[in-house]
Amino acid sequence: MNIAVAQSGGPTCAINASLLGVFSHAVKYDEIDLVYGSVNGIEGLIYDNLVNLFDIITDDEEIELIRQTPSTLLGSCRYKLPAYDKKPEIYEAILRTLRKYDIGAFFYIGGNDSMDTVMKLDRHFKENGIDIKVIGIPKTIDNDLPETDHTPGFGSAAKYVATSIQEITRDSSVYSIASVTIVEIMGRDTGWLTASSAILHANGEISPHLIYLPEKPFSIKQFIEDIREAQKKHYAVIVAVSEGISLSEEDIGEAFQSGNVDNFGHKYLSGVGKALEKIVAKELKCKVRSIELNVMQRCSSHLSSKRDITEAERIAGAAVKVALDGHSGKMMIFKRVANRPYNVKIEFVDVEKVANRVKYFPNEWINEAGNGVTKEAIEYCLPLIQGEQNFHMLNGIPKQYVLKCALPRDVGSHEP
Ligand code: F6P
Repeated sequence: MNIAVAQSGGPTCAINASLLGVFSHAVKYDEIDLVYGSVNGIEGLIYDNLVNLFDIITDDEEIELIRQTPSTLLGSCRYKLPAYDKKPEIYEAILRTLRKYDIGAFFYIGGNDSMDTVMKLDRHFKENGIDIKVIGIPKTIDNDLPETDHTPGFGSAAKYVATSIQEITRDSSVYSIASVTIVEIMGRDTGWLTASSAILHANGEISPHLIYLPEKPFSIKQFIEDIREAQKKHYAVIVAVSEGISLSEEDIGEAFQSGNVDNFGHKYLSGVGKALEKIVAKELKCKVRSIELNVMQRCSSHLSSKRDITEAERIAGAAVKVALDGHSGKMMIFKRVANRPYNVKIEFVDVEKVANRVKYFPNEWINEAGNGVTKEAIEYCLPLIQGEQNFHMLNGIPKQYVLKCALPRDVGSHEP
């Protein structure tokens, strides 16, 4: 049989390593002939946009470059698979493509929304006696998938966040004047990535002095009080704030976010740092700057965690064996066995336990004041950011893999 793999949701530094994991393990099994990549996630199966990965990945140097290249080699999507009774033609289109290419297993690398696709496809296939295995491979910088200790992509993003805040701290502390620097960090519903800024404390840094996560209600009044308090000890106050904190309209006066939503109904966030900057400037009348780490935190592969990249490849490779063993409707997970020395096991769970669910940052790892995290959070993050990749460089810049051919992106005449 042949197999297919696709990448879905927000990009990370490790999602191409997961693609390689599927590819390089598949070639070891006699049962598997060709490995296809579905372009733009599940949309590639709907529109018959597949590429033979043997045409794209041709030698070892390319494999090494793909490993150090962020974002998704095959493109991505934020596509919500409708229920079968709402749009049977979508399922028929997917099945047509899978049959056309003789695909016996489909691997979907993504987050909680993508696991919804894995769940729906697997159910449909099982209910109709279709023998095609569907396996989810976890990925997200948000680290918010239930059941797994952590998600590939998070460790690299965390390493970037902590490093950047360290650099911002040095830069922001040069003048002998009071200043506040607010760093906005991604994480739609959860504060895992924002909390990772506290890794700096393990290196003896005091910054970030204040950390705010979406898991705790946010009050502007308390925020200003917290900064006033911090200013008694530090003339340059550094604040890490999650893009997902909720500000009431009353707090911000006017809307600062676009209000637009993606296919899953998730709001496009970003802008919270700027809104807080304006409020702090007005209230405290000191120098204030907001910095949105934005997409850099998920594509800065020059600072990726080697452990993250290695694990992303391993967990995806293990998924191939799980499908060949006859399983379907599963998502691969990490189970942390020990912290020192760090050790994880790779297992799998029913995808129902993950699809559309969110793993929040533990309440007990947030300090009582709701403006910082405990040492348990730091201990949790530390092993995930370890190691650096040995980069291939070109003219002083890390070399990245760029496709030599255009990907098929035909969306046909119909709208799914
Ligand atoms: O995939 C997760 C994530 O990176 C979130 O942290 C962020 O809010 C969101 O994606 C951004 O989505 P998009 O890439 O569609 O702008």
